[in-house]
Amino acid sequence: MERPIGVIDSGVGGLTVAQELMRQLPNEQLIYLGDTLRCPYGSRTKDEIIQFTWEMVHFLLKKDIKMLVIACNTATAYTLNSLQQQLSIPVIGVIKPGARAAIKTTKNNDIGVIGTEATVSSKAYETALKQIKPEINVQSLACPLFVPMVEKGVLEGEEAKKTVEQSLKSIIKERNMDTLVLGCTHYPLLKGTIQSVIGNDVTIISSSDETAREASAILEVHHLLSTRPRQVQHIFYTTGELDIFKQITKVIFKKTPKHIRKIRL
Ligand code: DGL
Repeated sequence: MERPIGVIDSGVGGLTVAQELMRQLPNEQLIYLGDTLRCPYGSRTKDEIIQFTWEMVHFLLKKDIKMLVIACNTATAYTLNSLQQQLSIPVIGVIKPGARAAIKTTKNNDIGVIGTEATVSSKAYETALKQIKPEINVQSLACPLFVPMVEKGVLEGEEAKKTVEQSLKSIIKERNMDTLVLGCTHYPLLKGTIQSVIGNDVTIISSSDETAREASAILEVHHLLSTRPRQVQHIFYTTGELDIFKQITKVIFKKTPKHIRKIRL
């Protein structure tokens, strides 16, 4: 039997990565887990982020996943290395792919990164970007109001615009950047609003595309790729309210997935 790919996030943000995985790897089954009940992780302590992430991982390991995608920048920043060392399956995060995509895009080497408080204070993006290209100029900004707004399903309109304008003020004022990395997987759900606030001369990057490409390459190297065309049933688990989770999956996938379940970790 073909084994599924596990995808985790603190909530609905990782669905933006799941969507791209489904597009690039149509024969792979995904099992998604969003810890919506305890979201946001981005304003939690390092210990909490590590503990909660491992609880999600233990849940998915029982589903016999063949690969783990940490579709959350915050969890990637604090747990990627230990998960890669301790699990016997391949594990990938979203920060290096996001950094790679940004480097491919920038022309003036001036990159902005927005993310959660925990991701920004980890400096994981600066490290990843400078590892690829040391002369890159990076300006990072935490936007703690975005995730709670997205989890409520507020993705556009006046409230979203006001919050995005307020939050991005400082980065817009001082900016020279030609590229802005959405260093949180929830933020692509606000992409339209962010683009309208930041202006069309800045290219917005999310890591989902590059992450799915990396997942595909790694599965291939490990001979784990499902190449046989088949009908796959993805399964989505949330620890929070089912209704709002269903509503957001419908916005992302254009229809509500069949298998959405609420669980306790
Ligand atoms: N979606 C997550 C990320 O990429 C985190 C959101 C949160 O829980 O704060 O960082």
